[in-house]
Amino acid sequence: MSRQTPDYGLDAGAAVRAMFIVGPAAAIGGFLIVRWTLSRHLGLAYTLQIFGFCCLILATLMFASSRFGKLHARDRILARLKLRGDETVLDVGCGHGLLLIAAAKLLPRGHAVGIDLWSQWQQSDNSREATLRNAALEGVADRVSVHDGDMRKMPFADRSFDAVTIAFGIRNVARIEAALAEAFRVLKIGGKFVCLEFSAVDVPGLDRLYELYSVNVIPALGRVVAGDAESYRYLVESIRRFPSPQAFEVMLRAAGFARVTHKIMTGGIVALHSGWRL
Ligand SMILES: C[S@@+](CC[C@H](N)C(=O)[O-])C[C@H]1O[C@@H](n2cnc3c(N)ncnc32)[C@H](O)[C@@H]1O
Repeated sequence: MSRQTPDYGLDAGAAVRAMFIVGPAAAIGGFLIVRWTLSRHLGLAYTLQIFGFCCLILATLMFASSRFGKLHARDRILARLKLRGDETVLDVGCGHGLLLIAAAKLLPRGHAVGIDLWSQWQQSDNSREATLRNAALEGVADRVSVHDGDMRKMPFADRSFDAVTIAFGIRNVARIEAALAEAFRVLKIGGKFVCLEFSAVDVPGLDRLYELYSVNVIPALGRVVAGDAESYRYLVESIRRFPSPQAFEVMLRAAGFARVTHKIMTGGIVALHSGWRL
């Protein structure tokens, strides 16, 4: 009998799968046009080939981010928390529990709590059951609990957590201020807030490339595969609209957090923010 392994889900899974199908199809289409039309439609052929290769590259990057890059980011967040092992940690927008379950492993005498509203387009096969199954497979089911709910109105008492984390969850909410106010409310005095989020891209050239494909390719794929361009356009817009690290620091201070800092990672694509409730 094969041993079951945890599955931490694929971010924007439908878009990634779509690009893995559409990318090679467009590239092959480009080659066939050159062959069959004896180079009479070179412009179209090259456009299809470039589009196809870019889809493949983007899909590979998004897949690698979900499977590998996020593990590194998760470890950075947990290192920042400096857990003793007896705390209660809340992971907001926990998805399949990548951060939640890793935190639980560091809490032999504590507890890790997750909350999510289980968006399917933000993470594939997203559900409370999937997260609890992962916790059981990782041997920490007794230290993990998961709640259904919105991060802007959480069903937790004031000052009930030693730490609050959010990984790639806050950009998708309208009224980020409400989510930050809730994170502050449920933190104990002396508690720490750590938030990992996409940021403005600041590598020369990469920003233009990112803009071009996130605005044109991702919504088009969303329409073709999921029949839902709006969700994908919203995803892209939410990254573009998300405040700069400096502006986000201002929002954190306005919510009440003290000793607010941020660290830029991955060429500026991601920013790790932290603050304290003092
Ligand atoms: C990109 S996924 C990241 C999941 C997980 N933190 C990770 O890093 O694997 C974003 C998660 O935030 C959740 N989410 C989005 N808006 C939310 C809200 N208003 N309240 C609670 N969860 C939310 C989504 O359902 C999704 O599970």
